[in-house]
Amino acid sequence: MSAMSTDIDPTLLEKAKKVIENAYAPYSNFRVAALVATSDGHHYWGVNVENASYGLTICAERIAIGAALTDGKKNISQVYVFVESNQPVPPCGACRQVITEFNPDAEIIACSLRTGICKRWRAKELLPEAFTLDYIPKSENA
Ligand code: THU
Repeated sequence: MSAMSTDIDPTLLEKAKKVIENAYAPYSNFRVAALVATSDGHHYWGVNVENASYGLTICAERIAIGAALTDGKKNISQVYVFVESNQPVPPCGACRQVITEFNPDAEIIACSLRTGICKRWRAKELLPEAFTLDYIPKSENA
């Protein structure tokens, strides 16, 4: 399934350029900002947060999803991923799983802040045959 090129609101790109300054990425120097948009029009931002114990790094997408959930919003309709390199970056496997938890139909829009190039997918295209709640038996006897 190939990504579709897409256009986004230029004001989002401008806002992302400010938010990405808050990324904490002293180890990789690869800064990421993410934006979760909900179906009722709310916006939640996140940045990547790295750690001296490298494996504890949290991606920008999961920080943004946590911010939405903290505000009581689970109706995620879009997840934007912004990077400063030339190529748009699709979410890592862990983030695909977490996005899918809330909406397999969510749009994922990845943008390069340097080139303005954006690509778009559905979560279910990036994580087919996902493990979801449906696979967990509802009772011991199921
Ligand atoms: N990263 C994200 O925040 N989101 C992505 O979609 C790709 C990777 C972060 C994790 C780490 O801080 C850095 O980028 C390099 O992997």
